[in-house]
Amino acid sequence: MKNNILVIGSGAREHAIVRALDRSSQEKEIYCLASNMNPGIAELCDEILIGNFNDPEFVVSYAKEVGATLAIIGPENPLANGVADALLNTNVKVVGPKKDLAQLETSKAFTRDLLNEYKIPGGPKYQNFNSMNGVADFLNILGENYVVKYDGLAGGKGVKVSGDHLHSHDEALAYCQELVNNDGEFVIEEKFIGEEFSLMSFCDGETLKHMPAVQDHKRAYEGDSGPNTGGMGTYSDANHSLPFLTDDDIAQAHDINLQTAKAVKDKFGVGYKGILYGGFMATANGVKLIEYNARFGDPEAMNVLSLLESDFIDICNGISNGALDKIDVRFSNKATVCKYAVPEGYPDNPVKDKPIDVSKIENPDGLFYASVDFKGTSLVEAGSRTVAVVGIADSISDAEKIAEKDVSSITGPLFHRKDIGTDKVIQKRINHMREIKC
Ligand code: AMP
Ligand code: GLY
Repeated sequence: MKNNILVIGSGAREHAIVRALDRSSQEKEIYCLASNMNPGIAELCDEILIGNFNDPEFVVSYAKEVGATLAIIGPENPLANGVADALLNTNVKVVGPKKDLAQLETSKAFTRDLLNEYKIPGGPKYQNFNSMNGVADFLNILGENYVVKYDGLAGGKGVKVSGDHLHSHDEALAYCQELVNNDGEFVIEEKFIGEEFSLMSFCDGETLKHMPAVQDHKRAYEGDSGPNTGGMGTYSDANHSLPFLTDDDIAQAHDINLQTAKAVKDKFGVGYKGILYGGFMATANGVKLIEYNARFGDPEAMNVLSLLESDFIDICNGISNGALDKIDVRFSNKATVCKYAVPEGYPDNPVKDKPIDVSKIENPDGLFYASVDFKGTSLVEAGSRTVAVVGIADSISDAEKIAEKDVSSITGPLFHRKDIGTDKVIQKRINHMREIKC
Protein backbone atom coordinates (compact mmCIF):
# COMPACT_ATOMS: atom_id res chain seq x y z
CA MET A 1 0.00 0.00 0.00
CA LYS A 2 1.23 3.48 -0.84
CA ASN A 3 1.98 5.66 2.17
CA ASN A 4 0.43 9.13 2.06
CA ILE A 5 2.11 10.79 4.99
CA LEU A 6 1.17 14.11 6.56
CA VAL A 7 3.84 15.80 8.67
CA ILE A 8 2.64 18.54 11.00
CA GLY A 9 5.10 21.33 11.79
CA SER A 10 7.89 23.05 9.86
CA GLY A 11 10.94 23.49 12.08
CA ALA A 12 14.28 21.71 11.98
CA ARG A 13 12.75 18.77 13.91
CA GLU A 14 10.17 18.31 11.17
CA HIS A 15 12.87 18.74 8.49
CA ALA A 16 14.68 15.82 10.20
CA ILE A 17 11.42 13.80 10.25
CA VAL A 18 10.79 14.47 6.54
CA ARG A 19 14.38 13.53 5.67
CA ALA A 20 14.07 10.25 7.56
CA LEU A 21 10.81 9.48 5.71
CA ASP A 22 12.37 10.43 2.39
CA ARG A 23 15.22 7.94 2.94
CA SER A 24 12.72 5.07 2.97
CA SER A 25 12.57 3.13 -0.29
CA GLN A 26 8.82 2.55 0.13
CA GLU A 27 6.36 4.14 -2.26
CA LYS A 28 5.16 7.36 -0.64
CA GLU A 29 3.83 10.87 -0.90
CA ILE A 30 4.76 13.36 1.82
CA TYR A 31 2.68 16.41 2.71
CA CYS A 32 3.42 19.07 5.30
CA LEU A 33 1.22 21.49 7.23
CA ALA A 34 3.56 24.32 8.11
CA SER A 35 3.82 27.61 9.95
CA ASN A 36 6.60 28.91 7.69
CA MET A 37 8.04 28.13 4.28
CA ASN A 38 10.83 25.72 5.20
CA PRO A 39 12.84 25.19 1.99
CA GLY A 40 14.36 21.90 3.20
CA ILE A 41 10.91 20.42 3.79
CA ALA A 42 9.46 21.96 0.62
CA GLU A 43 12.17 20.30 -1.48
CA LEU A 44 11.33 16.82 -0.18
CA CYS A 45 7.53 17.06 0.04
CA ASP A 46 4.82 16.73 -2.56
CA GLU A 47 3.18 19.80 -1.03
CA ILE A 48 3.84 22.15 1.87
CA LEU A 49 0.87 24.25 2.97
CA ILE A 50 0.98 27.09 5.46
CA GLY A 51 -2.03 26.90 7.78
CA ASN A 52 -3.17 26.67 11.38
CA PHE A 53 -2.11 23.12 12.26
CA ASN A 54 -3.28 23.64 15.85
CA ASP A 55 -6.90 23.52 14.61
CA PRO A 56 -8.12 19.88 14.55
CA GLU A 57 -10.87 20.56 11.97
CA PHE A 58 -8.48 22.20 9.57
CA VAL A 59 -5.93 19.39 9.93
CA VAL A 60 -8.60 16.75 9.34
CA SER A 61 -9.90 18.51 6.23
CA TYR A 62 -6.37 18.76 4.79
CA ALA A 63 -5.65 15.11 5.68
CA LYS A 64 -8.79 14.09 3.76
CA GLU A 65 -7.90 16.28 0.80
CA VAL A 66 -4.49 14.65 0.38
CA GLY A 67 -5.72 11.14 1.28
CA ALA A 68 -3.37 10.86 4.26
CA THR A 69 -2.94 7.34 5.63
CA LEU A 70 -0.54 8.37 8.39
CA ALA A 71 0.15 11.62 10.23
CA ILE A 72 3.24 12.49 12.27
CA ILE A 73 2.75 15.33 14.73
CA GLY A 74 5.96 17.27 15.37
CA PRO A 75 5.19 20.03 17.93
CA GLU A 76 3.30 19.91 21.24
CA ASN A 77 0.51 22.44 20.57
CA PRO A 78 -1.46 20.30 18.10
CA LEU A 79 -1.20 17.39 20.58
CA ALA A 80 -2.52 19.64 23.35
CA ASN A 81 -5.44 20.66 21.09
CA GLY A 82 -6.51 17.09 20.29
CA VAL A 83 -5.28 16.93 16.69
CA ALA A 84 -4.33 13.25 17.17
CA ASP A 85 -7.83 12.42 18.48
CA ALA A 86 -9.47 14.19 15.52
CA LEU A 87 -7.30 12.37 12.97
CA LEU A 88 -7.88 8.99 14.63
CA ASN A 89 -11.64 9.61 14.49
CA THR A 90 -11.36 9.84 10.71
CA ASN A 91 -9.23 6.69 10.49
CA VAL A 92 -5.92 8.37 9.82
CA LYS A 93 -3.15 6.58 11.72
CA VAL A 94 -1.13 8.86 13.95
CA VAL A 95 2.32 9.08 15.48
CA GLY A 96 1.53 11.31 18.45
CA PRO A 97 -0.56 10.61 21.56
CA LYS A 98 -4.20 11.50 22.15
CA LYS A 99 -4.87 14.68 24.10
CA ASP A 100 -5.43 12.89 27.44
CA LEU A 101 -2.11 11.08 27.17
CA ALA A 102 -0.29 14.21 25.97
CA GLN A 103 -0.94 15.57 29.46
CA LEU A 104 2.42 13.97 30.21
CA GLU A 105 3.76 17.11 28.56
CA THR A 106 0.94 19.61 28.98
CA SER A 107 0.46 19.22 32.75
CA LYS A 108 3.34 19.08 35.21
CA ALA A 109 0.93 18.12 38.03
CA PHE A 110 -0.55 15.26 35.97
CA THR A 111 2.90 13.75 35.44
CA ARG A 112 3.99 14.11 39.06
CA ASP A 113 0.70 12.58 40.27
CA LEU A 114 0.99 9.71 37.77
CA LEU A 115 4.49 8.76 38.92
CA ASN A 116 3.32 8.93 42.51
CA GLU A 117 0.15 6.91 41.94
CA TYR A 118 1.92 4.13 40.01
CA LYS A 119 4.99 4.17 42.28
CA ILE A 120 7.28 4.88 39.34
CA PRO A 121 10.78 5.82 40.57
CA GLY A 122 12.46 9.13 39.78
CA GLY A 123 9.94 11.63 41.14
CA PRO A 124 10.83 14.50 43.50
CA LYS A 125 9.06 15.61 46.70
CA TYR A 126 6.32 17.88 45.33
CA GLN A 127 2.99 19.53 46.00
CA ASN A 128 0.37 21.02 43.65
CA PHE A 129 -1.10 24.45 44.38
CA ASN A 130 -3.72 26.86 43.03
CA SER A 131 -3.55 29.37 45.90
CA MET A 132 -0.94 30.57 48.37
CA ASN A 133 -2.28 28.18 51.05
CA GLY A 134 0.60 26.05 52.28
CA VAL A 135 3.17 27.48 49.85
CA ALA A 136 5.44 29.04 52.51
CA ASP A 137 5.30 25.84 54.62
CA PHE A 138 6.24 23.61 51.70
CA LEU A 139 9.11 25.93 50.71
CA ASN A 140 10.35 25.65 54.31
CA ILE A 141 10.32 21.86 54.04
CA LEU A 142 12.36 21.99 50.80
CA GLY A 143 14.80 24.61 52.15
CA GLU A 144 17.28 25.89 49.57
CA ASN A 145 16.53 23.43 46.77
CA TYR A 146 13.16 24.05 45.13
CA VAL A 147 11.61 24.59 41.71
CA VAL A 148 8.33 26.38 40.93
CA LYS A 149 6.58 25.20 37.75
CA TYR A 150 3.58 26.82 36.13
CA ASP A 151 1.24 23.94 35.27
CA GLY A 152 0.77 24.36 31.54
CA LEU A 153 2.61 24.79 28.25
CA ALA A 154 4.89 27.82 28.54
CA GLY A 155 7.76 26.96 26.19
CA GLY A 156 10.08 26.30 29.16
CA LYS A 157 9.49 29.81 30.52
CA GLY A 158 7.11 28.81 33.32
CA VAL A 159 9.81 27.00 35.32
CA LYS A 160 11.86 28.89 37.90
CA VAL A 161 14.69 27.13 39.72
CA SER A 162 16.23 28.17 43.07
CA GLY A 163 19.75 29.58 42.85
CA ASP A 164 19.14 30.22 39.18
CA HIS A 165 16.00 32.30 38.68
CA LEU A 166 14.86 32.56 42.31
CA HIS A 167 17.26 33.68 45.03
CA SER A 168 15.13 33.61 48.20
CA HIS A 169 11.84 32.28 49.50
CA ASP A 170 10.53 35.87 49.15
CA GLU A 171 11.25 35.79 45.42
CA ALA A 172 9.64 32.33 45.17
CA LEU A 173 6.55 33.55 47.05
CA ALA A 174 6.31 36.56 44.73
CA TYR A 175 6.43 34.30 41.65
CA CYS A 176 3.77 31.98 43.13
CA GLN A 177 1.58 35.01 43.90
CA GLU A 178 1.95 36.15 40.27
CA LEU A 179 0.76 32.70 39.12
CA VAL A 180 -2.17 32.78 41.56
CA ASN A 181 -3.13 36.28 40.35
CA ASN A 182 -3.23 34.93 36.78
CA ASP A 183 -5.45 32.03 37.92
CA GLY A 184 -2.57 29.65 37.34
CA GLU A 185 -2.06 26.25 38.93
CA PHE A 186 1.51 25.35 39.80
CA VAL A 187 3.76 22.67 41.23
CA ILE A 188 6.53 23.23 43.76
CA GLU A 189 9.09 20.46 43.82
CA GLU A 190 12.49 19.44 45.07
CA LYS A 191 15.41 20.64 42.98
CA PHE A 192 17.68 17.84 41.71
CA ILE A 193 21.41 18.32 41.34
CA GLY A 194 23.15 16.52 38.50
CA GLU A 195 23.48 16.31 34.73
CA GLU A 196 20.46 16.40 32.43
CA PHE A 197 19.89 14.09 29.48
CA SER A 198 17.08 13.27 27.06
CA LEU A 199 16.03 9.68 26.48
CA MET A 200 13.35 9.29 23.82
CA SER A 201 11.50 6.06 23.08
CA PHE A 202 9.31 5.02 20.17
CA CYS A 203 6.14 3.68 21.77
CA ASP A 204 3.20 1.78 20.24
CA GLY A 205 1.16 1.62 23.42
CA GLU A 206 2.80 -1.62 24.59
CA THR A 207 6.33 -1.97 23.26
CA LEU A 208 9.05 0.65 23.61
CA LYS A 209 12.15 0.93 21.40
CA HIS A 210 14.65 3.37 22.81
CA MET A 211 16.74 5.96 21.00
CA PRO A 212 20.31 7.01 21.86
CA ALA A 213 20.64 9.36 24.85
CA VAL A 214 21.25 13.03 24.01
CA GLN A 215 22.30 16.07 26.03
CA ASP A 216 20.74 19.43 25.19
CA HIS A 217 21.98 22.93 26.11
CA LYS A 218 19.05 25.13 27.08
CA ARG A 219 20.87 28.34 27.94
CA ALA A 220 21.46 30.91 25.21
CA TYR A 221 25.11 31.69 25.87
CA GLU A 222 28.39 29.86 26.29
CA GLY A 223 29.18 28.41 29.72
CA ASP A 224 25.45 27.67 30.21
CA SER A 225 24.68 31.31 30.96
CA GLY A 226 21.92 33.66 29.81
CA PRO A 227 18.21 33.10 29.26
CA ASN A 228 16.58 29.73 28.63
CA THR A 229 15.85 28.78 25.03
CA GLY A 230 14.24 25.88 23.20
CA GLY A 231 17.74 24.34 23.03
CA MET A 232 20.91 25.73 21.44
CA GLY A 233 22.52 22.42 20.57
CA THR A 234 22.89 18.76 21.47
CA TYR A 235 25.27 15.85 21.28
CA SER A 236 25.12 12.06 21.42
CA ASP A 237 27.89 9.46 21.68
CA ALA A 238 28.80 6.50 19.47
CA ASN A 239 27.80 3.97 22.17
CA HIS A 240 24.32 5.58 22.45
CA SER A 241 25.04 6.59 26.05
CA LEU A 242 26.74 9.82 27.22
CA PRO A 243 30.25 10.21 28.68
CA PHE A 244 28.91 11.01 32.17
CA LEU A 245 26.33 8.20 32.34
CA THR A 246 26.64 4.58 33.49
CA ASP A 247 24.85 1.62 31.89
CA ASP A 248 22.67 1.55 34.98
CA ASP A 249 21.63 5.19 34.44
CA ILE A 250 20.47 4.34 30.92
CA ALA A 251 18.66 1.24 32.20
CA GLN A 252 16.87 3.33 34.85
CA ALA A 253 15.71 5.87 32.22
CA HIS A 254 14.45 3.04 29.96
CA ASP A 255 12.57 1.56 32.88
CA ILE A 256 10.94 4.88 33.86
CA ASN A 257 9.75 5.39 30.25
CA LEU A 258 8.39 1.82 30.13
CA GLN A 259 6.57 2.11 33.44
CA THR A 260 5.13 5.49 32.43
CA ALA A 261 3.79 4.12 29.14
CA LYS A 262 2.15 1.25 31.06
CA ALA A 263 0.69 3.67 33.61
CA VAL A 264 -1.00 5.93 31.04
CA LYS A 265 -2.43 2.89 29.28
CA ASP A 266 -3.85 1.67 32.56
CA LYS A 267 -5.24 5.10 33.39
CA PHE A 268 -6.92 5.88 30.06
CA GLY A 269 -7.49 2.41 28.60
CA VAL A 270 -5.66 3.39 25.38
CA GLY A 271 -2.00 3.09 24.60
CA TYR A 272 0.50 5.90 24.10
CA LYS A 273 1.39 5.89 20.41
CA GLY A 274 4.18 8.25 19.58
CA ILE A 275 7.47 9.49 20.89
CA LEU A 276 7.85 9.40 24.67
CA TYR A 277 10.59 11.86 25.55
CA GLY A 278 11.89 11.68 29.12
CA GLY A 279 13.89 14.67 30.33
CA PHE A 280 16.06 13.10 33.04
CA MET A 281 18.73 14.12 35.50
CA ALA A 282 21.49 11.74 36.59
CA THR A 283 22.04 12.48 40.28
CA ALA A 284 24.04 11.04 43.19
CA ASN A 285 20.89 9.05 44.07
CA GLY A 286 20.08 7.65 40.65
CA VAL A 287 18.15 8.89 37.65
CA LYS A 288 15.36 11.40 38.28
CA LEU A 289 12.58 12.56 35.97
CA ILE A 290 12.54 16.31 35.27
CA GLU A 291 9.69 16.29 32.77
CA TYR A 292 8.03 14.42 29.95
CA ASN A 293 7.50 15.66 26.41
CA ALA A 294 5.01 13.94 24.12
CA ARG A 295 7.03 14.40 20.90
CA PHE A 296 10.55 14.39 19.48
CA GLY A 297 12.91 16.90 21.08
CA ASP A 298 14.22 19.75 19.01
CA PRO A 299 17.27 19.59 18.52
CA GLU A 300 17.37 15.95 19.77
CA ALA A 301 15.46 14.73 16.68
CA MET A 302 18.28 15.94 14.44
CA ASN A 303 20.84 13.87 16.38
CA VAL A 304 18.94 10.60 16.53
CA LEU A 305 17.17 10.65 13.16
CA SER A 306 20.52 11.39 11.48
CA LEU A 307 21.70 8.05 12.92
CA LEU A 308 18.61 5.98 12.16
CA GLU A 309 19.50 3.04 9.92
CA SER A 310 16.12 1.31 9.85
CA ASP A 311 13.14 2.31 7.72
CA PHE A 312 11.38 5.21 9.45
CA ILE A 313 8.09 4.57 7.65
CA ASP A 314 8.09 1.01 9.05
CA ILE A 315 8.71 2.42 12.53
CA CYS A 316 5.88 4.96 12.20
CA ASN A 317 3.45 2.33 10.91
CA GLY A 318 4.63 -0.02 13.69
CA ILE A 319 3.88 2.68 16.30
CA SER A 320 0.41 3.41 14.97
CA ASN A 321 -0.51 -0.27 14.33
CA GLY A 322 0.76 -1.49 17.70
CA ALA A 323 3.36 -3.70 16.00
CA LEU A 324 6.61 -2.10 17.10
CA ASP A 325 7.82 -5.41 18.57
CA LYS A 326 8.16 -6.74 15.00
CA ILE A 327 10.02 -3.70 13.67
CA ASP A 328 13.77 -3.42 13.42
CA VAL A 329 14.96 -0.19 15.10
CA ARG A 330 18.69 0.40 14.65
CA PHE A 331 20.92 3.46 14.97
CA SER A 332 24.46 3.65 13.66
CA ASN A 333 27.26 3.69 16.23
CA LYS A 334 28.43 7.22 15.52
CA ALA A 335 28.61 10.36 17.63
CA THR A 336 26.65 13.48 16.65
CA VAL A 337 26.86 17.16 17.52
CA CYS A 338 24.08 19.56 16.56
CA LYS A 339 24.45 23.34 16.79
CA TYR A 340 21.77 25.92 16.17
CA ALA A 341 22.45 29.30 14.58
CA VAL A 342 19.94 31.74 16.09
CA PRO A 343 19.13 35.42 15.41
CA GLU A 344 21.14 38.10 17.19
CA GLY A 345 19.11 39.09 20.25
CA TYR A 346 17.46 35.65 20.55
CA PRO A 347 15.48 34.70 22.61
CA ASP A 348 14.30 38.04 24.07
CA ASN A 349 14.72 40.54 21.19
CA PRO A 350 15.56 38.58 18.06
CA VAL A 351 16.48 40.28 14.80
CA LYS A 352 13.90 39.40 12.11
CA ASP A 353 13.62 39.37 8.31
CA LYS A 354 17.38 39.74 7.73
CA PRO A 355 18.99 37.67 4.95
CA ILE A 356 21.20 34.73 5.77
CA ASP A 357 23.51 32.72 3.51
CA VAL A 358 24.04 28.99 4.02
CA SER A 359 25.80 28.33 0.71
CA LYS A 360 29.26 27.74 2.25
CA ILE A 361 28.10 24.67 4.22
CA GLU A 362 30.25 21.62 3.40
CA ASN A 363 27.74 18.95 4.54
CA PRO A 364 24.34 19.88 3.12
CA ASP A 365 22.90 16.59 4.46
CA GLY A 366 23.59 17.90 7.96
CA LEU A 367 21.79 21.23 7.42
CA PHE A 368 18.29 21.54 8.89
CA TYR A 369 16.16 24.62 8.27
CA ALA A 370 14.05 25.95 11.14
CA SER A 371 12.64 29.48 11.63
CA VAL A 372 13.33 30.85 8.15
CA ASP A 373 11.21 32.42 5.47
CA PHE A 374 11.56 34.09 2.10
CA LYS A 375 11.56 37.79 1.30
CA GLY A 376 11.39 37.82 -2.46
CA THR A 377 14.00 35.22 -3.31
CA SER A 378 16.21 35.77 -0.27
CA LEU A 379 16.24 33.39 2.66
CA VAL A 380 15.64 35.40 5.84
CA GLU A 381 15.60 34.61 9.55
CA ALA A 382 12.06 34.53 10.96
CA GLY A 383 12.82 35.29 14.63
CA SER A 384 13.31 31.96 16.38
CA ARG A 385 16.06 29.30 16.11
CA THR A 386 17.11 29.71 12.47
CA VAL A 387 19.06 26.72 11.12
CA ALA A 388 20.75 23.73 12.72
CA VAL A 389 23.77 21.78 11.53
CA VAL A 390 24.72 18.25 12.53
CA GLY A 391 28.24 16.79 12.46
CA ILE A 392 28.57 12.99 12.51
CA ALA A 393 31.85 11.19 13.32
CA ASP A 394 33.32 8.36 15.40
CA SER A 395 33.84 10.65 18.41
CA ILE A 396 31.97 13.62 19.87
CA SER A 397 35.18 15.62 19.52
CA ASP A 398 35.36 15.06 15.74
CA ALA A 399 31.63 15.54 15.26
CA GLU A 400 31.93 18.89 17.06
CA LYS A 401 34.62 20.09 14.67
CA ILE A 402 32.44 19.29 11.66
CA ALA A 403 29.38 21.01 13.16
CA GLU A 404 31.39 24.04 14.28
CA LYS A 405 32.97 24.52 10.86
CA ASP A 406 29.60 24.38 9.12
CA VAL A 407 27.68 26.57 11.56
CA SER A 408 30.47 29.18 11.43
CA SER A 409 30.22 29.31 7.65
CA ILE A 410 26.63 30.62 7.79
CA THR A 411 26.52 34.40 7.37
CA GLY A 412 23.93 36.89 8.60
CA PRO A 413 23.07 38.49 11.96
CA LEU A 414 23.22 35.18 13.84
CA PHE A 415 25.09 33.60 16.74
CA HIS A 416 25.70 30.09 18.01
CA ARG A 417 27.32 28.37 21.00
CA LYS A 418 30.88 27.43 20.13
CA ASP A 419 31.27 25.43 23.35
CA ILE A 420 28.64 22.70 22.71
CA GLY A 421 30.29 19.30 22.25
CA THR A 422 33.83 20.57 22.82
CA ASP A 423 36.28 18.40 24.79
CA LYS A 424 36.33 21.05 27.50
CA VAL A 425 32.58 21.04 28.05
CA ILE A 426 32.35 17.24 27.92
CA GLN A 427 35.11 16.98 30.54
CA LYS A 428 33.25 19.53 32.68
CA ARG A 429 30.13 17.33 32.59
CA ILE A 430 32.16 14.23 33.55
CA ASN A 431 33.87 16.11 36.42
CA HIS A 432 30.54 17.45 37.66
CA MET A 433 29.09 13.95 37.79
CA ARG A 434 32.19 12.66 39.62
CA GLU A 435 32.00 15.49 42.16
CA ILE A 436 28.36 14.96 43.03
CA LYS A 437 28.81 11.19 43.31
CA CYS A 438 31.56 11.40 45.96
P1 AMP B 1 10.86 21.63 32.44
O1 AMP B 1 10.04 22.56 31.58
O2 AMP B 1 10.08 20.95 33.50
O3 AMP B 1 11.76 20.74 31.65
O4 AMP B 1 11.93 22.57 33.18
C1 AMP B 1 12.83 23.37 32.45
C2 AMP B 1 14.21 23.24 33.05
O5 AMP B 1 14.18 23.56 34.45
C3 AMP B 1 14.77 21.82 32.99
O6 AMP B 1 15.40 21.57 31.77
C4 AMP B 1 15.75 21.84 34.15
O7 AMP B 1 16.97 22.46 33.76
C5 AMP B 1 15.07 22.72 35.17
N1 AMP B 1 14.32 21.89 36.13
C6 AMP B 1 13.02 21.54 36.08
N2 AMP B 1 12.67 20.76 37.13
C7 AMP B 1 13.79 20.60 37.86
C8 AMP B 1 14.10 19.89 39.10
N3 AMP B 1 13.19 19.22 39.78
N4 AMP B 1 15.38 19.96 39.55
C9 AMP B 1 16.33 20.67 38.89
N5 AMP B 1 16.10 21.35 37.73
C10 AMP B 1 14.85 21.32 37.23
N1 GLY C 1 15.15 20.14 23.40
C1 GLY C 1 14.10 20.43 24.28
C2 GLY C 1 12.75 20.22 23.75
O1 GLY C 1 12.55 19.79 22.64
O2 GLY C 1 11.80 20.47 24.48
